[in-house]
Amino acid sequence: MSAFDRLLTATIDHLEDLRNQGVEFVPVSSRTLDELCRRPARITVSPSPSSSTPMPPRKPSSSAVARRSEPPANPVGPAPSPPITLPAAGGTLPPALAPAAKEAAFLALSKRARACTRCPHLVRSRKNVVFGVGTPDARLLFVGEAPGADEDEQGEPFVGKAGQLLTKIIQAMGLDRNQVYIANILKCRPDTPGQSAGNRKPTSDEMATCVPYLHEQIDLIRPEVMVALGATAVEGLLGKSSVGVARLRGHWQTYRGIPLMPTYHPAYLLRNQAPSEKRKVWEDMMTVMTRLKMPINEKQLGYFLTK
Ligand code: URA
Repeated sequence: MSAFDRLLTATIDHLEDLRNQGVEFVPVSSRTLDELCRRPARITVSPSPSSSTPMPPRKPSSSAVARRSEPPANPVGPAPSPPITLPAAGGTLPPALAPAAKEAAFLALSKRARACTRCPHLVRSRKNVVFGVGTPDARLLFVGEAPGADEDEQGEPFVGKAGQLLTKIIQAMGLDRNQVYIANILKCRPDTPGQSAGNRKPTSDEMATCVPYLHEQIDLIRPEVMVALGATAVEGLLGKSSVGVARLRGHWQTYRGIPLMPTYHPAYLLRNQAPSEKRKVWEDMMTVMTRLKMPINEKQLGYFLTK
């Protein structure tokens, strides 16, 4: 690590300590600010590529104040367009529960969701309620749209083609599915009456009816970072917006104090296989990794870069 990187790391650590103590602003002279603006954005590169990097453990208590303060600028590289910030989804999370109470509450929530009959048309067509998968202690939560046919069949989110791509993305980050949590805005597959195949987007009513279960899941999981996969996930978490994912992606948003990164849905990457589109999602994931203080190695830095 160069002297500059050591200084940068020490400065970031100091600022994060201050933020954890509730300090939201620090005075900076205009000369220092000019100096900082001249420095290129840097990220720490771990010395050797590794295929599986343990995620640093969850901090014992990450305060709502720390979460509310502005996330750092995208460390991966300059954003291609000016940041677009949607109004933060309001409120803060309830206090964390003790581990045993959390486990019991998660189980009770999953039982309630699995027995849900709020959308009679979906109850009639569903094979399974797809509650979510992963660890309730995850630092990172992925949110998708709704189960498809494979997910309905197996009762697990993101197991079809798009899901397999999501799994690869998670693995490329050096993680596996049981180190994160994966859920959807809708827990039942949107029905497709009169059609033997295909999917449809959830309606606004279905989303409004189902999303409280996800809110409760998030209250319990209390992830440090969330990723919204595609427009429906962004809408379900932050509300309807006229700004499309193409402009939102790469720019941090806030869901009840939790930093949220919108990115393309993996199904989009299956339809559009251009390396440039894969790279965009990958840059969003590196931004997420940086936020979680996960190391990024040389190999990871280079994924989907066209020469
Ligand atoms: N697409 C989603 O949004 N969620 C799934 O679980 C599967 C595919």
